[in-house]
Amino acid sequence: MALKLNAIPFQSSKSLASAIPRAASLRSPKVLMASTLKEVDTVKKPLREAHVQVTHSMPPQKIEMFKALEDWAENNILVHLRPVEKCWQPQDFLPDPCSDGFYDQVKELRERAKEIPDDYFVVLVGDMITEEALPTYQTMLNTLDGVRDETGASLTSWAIWTRAWTAEENRHGDLLNKYLFLSGRDPGTENNPYLGFIYTSFQERATFISHGNTARLAKQHGDFKLAQICGSIASDEKRHETAYTKIVEKLFELDPEGTVQCFADMMRRKISMPAHLMYDGKDESLFEHYSSVAQRLGVYTARDYADILEHLVSHWKVGALTGLSSEGQKAQEFVCGLGPRIRKLEERAQSRAKQQPGKIAFSWMHNREVQL
Ligand SMILES: [Fe+2]
Ligand SMILES: [Fe+2]
Repeated sequence: MALKLNAIPFQSSKSLASAIPRAASLRSPKVLMASTLKEVDTVKKPLREAHVQVTHSMPPQKIEMFKALEDWAENNILVHLRPVEKCWQPQDFLPDPCSDGFYDQVKELRERAKEIPDDYFVVLVGDMITEEALPTYQTMLNTLDGVRDETGASLTSWAIWTRAWTAEENRHGDLLNKYLFLSGRDPGTENNPYLGFIYTSFQERATFISHGNTARLAKQHGDFKLAQICGSIASDEKRHETAYTKIVEKLFELDPEGTVQCFADMMRRKISMPAHLMYDGKDESLFEHYSSVAQRLGVYTARDYADILEHLVSHWKVGALTGLSSEGQKAQEFVCGLGPRIRKLEERAQSRAKQQPGKIAFSWMHNREVQL
């Protein structure tokens, strides 16, 4: 989830792919995108964004580079997957319906969950939605030229990674979903792998940070089981982050010019998290409201957004790149100088927010009001 981002209204397509290659601004009635793109009018459609799509922005000759990285991916990326027999399953953390003690265990779970305040649950539900978007993540990776799973059962390292990663993400959504269900409180990219992997590097670190923080807060609220649930998900996210940042590191090594330009391109659009399209049929600013609560609880803040950016800039040693074209140098300067700018904007937004604190009813909390 991302907080700093485009205040994006509801859009019918919920795919991550549509979230990636989009430059949207509510201020401008036009959407302008890189390279092959047209300018498109988005006027008078407050609830929908224009679907502007760039297809296949990576030059075809680079596809070969990804194919040549097969062995490298096997030795460097697949190692970040847990062997199947060591993977945890949602059931490991939840009451076992086959056991005699099931009802008592659910009762205990509910007793613990009772102690957790509404604002925490607002954030946890939003986190769950982020994870549950994952079936579309597989689709997103399968749009990327040079790395897609051609058959759905392809034995290339890229395809193996995509299937296994999606399975892990799916379990994150399942675990949070089942926990929330049992808690009794809840009835109810342009096909461009450069952009795709830069996006996932950023997003995996963001989910690592936010699940780590919900774990910390669950502990403070006295629910150690929930802390373990969020902590286990956070530790998966760390592995995912490591794998994706490693892929981009390799791209910087093989193609610093192309990679730094894509990095700048991605950051100019801002990284919107998949859940930014969430909609409950009532609140058109649902994601913004969820984000405000997450921000206030310190689960995921605009400061984290700047921290992640600066972490990636230093991890990929972007400042030290040499031999770049003038356009490449511009991209380099842009990403290296972006952190402090985000922080400044954030300080301003924070002080504005403090002046007008508000409450909002969340449908997923039975319309109870929660402080923003
Ligand atoms: Fe996840
Ligand atoms: Fe992940």
